[in-house]
Amino acid sequence: MSESRLTDIEACVFDAYGTLFDFMSPMVRRRGRIGEKADQLFELWRRKQLEYSWLRTLMGRHTDFWRVTGDALDHAMKTVGIDDPGLRAELMQVYLSLDAYPDVSATIEAVRGKGLRTAILSNGSPTMLTAAVNHAELTKQLDMVLSVEERAVYKPHPSAYQLAVETLGVTAPHICFVSANGWDVAGAGAFGFQVVWLNRNDNPPELLPHPAMAEIRTLEELPALLDS
Ligand code: LAC
Repeated sequence: MSESRLTDIEACVFDAYGTLFDFMSPMVRRRGRIGEKADQLFELWRRKQLEYSWLRTLMGRHTDFWRVTGDALDHAMKTVGIDDPGLRAELMQVYLSLDAYPDVSATIEAVRGKGLRTAILSNGSPTMLTAAVNHAELTKQLDMVLSVEERAVYKPHPSAYQLAVETLGVTAPHICFVSANGWDVAGAGAFGFQVVWLNRNDNPPELLPHPAMAEIRTLEELPALLDS
């Protein structure tokens, strides 16, 4: 995709769900069990999960992402008319055993090979992120796994991104932030990171301020964009 190079990068910080971790494939594998309402359920669940995170931060009523994810699933199941506690438990467990996309491990290794530090900055709770990182066997490749839980606000609130600056000890202009979520791209750009949009599905860009500096289709394109 776009060729603009990022300059003076000292660390690469990645969003988690949809960026490093494939949370949709396990859902798609359960379509047969759920039936024709499956796609509506999954779309509603993700939308509600994000809506609740944004609304709770705007209202100053934080709770962790496991609770937000569960509340969103409950609302989505009620909306589509599915009452199945076993299915609910199974879908929630999916978040604790996610696979990384195939392009993740080699890309993080290539970024580290450039002498850059690597981290996750995610809305996920510490327990959720630890489980996902361990299951995806990324523990040794990441210098840090940062949950916004420490700040009790969700992205795109600036305090969430500030956590990466303070924990890594790297100022915002020297951090490359990578996300598949367009709203997260805008929030990170507004905060002052150099942002790369991982647009795996060729979606149209969000009509929000601070477009990404670069757009890629696969994570493998990232290392070439970084100032060596
Ligand atoms: C995250 C979700 C929002 O990892 O993708 O923060």
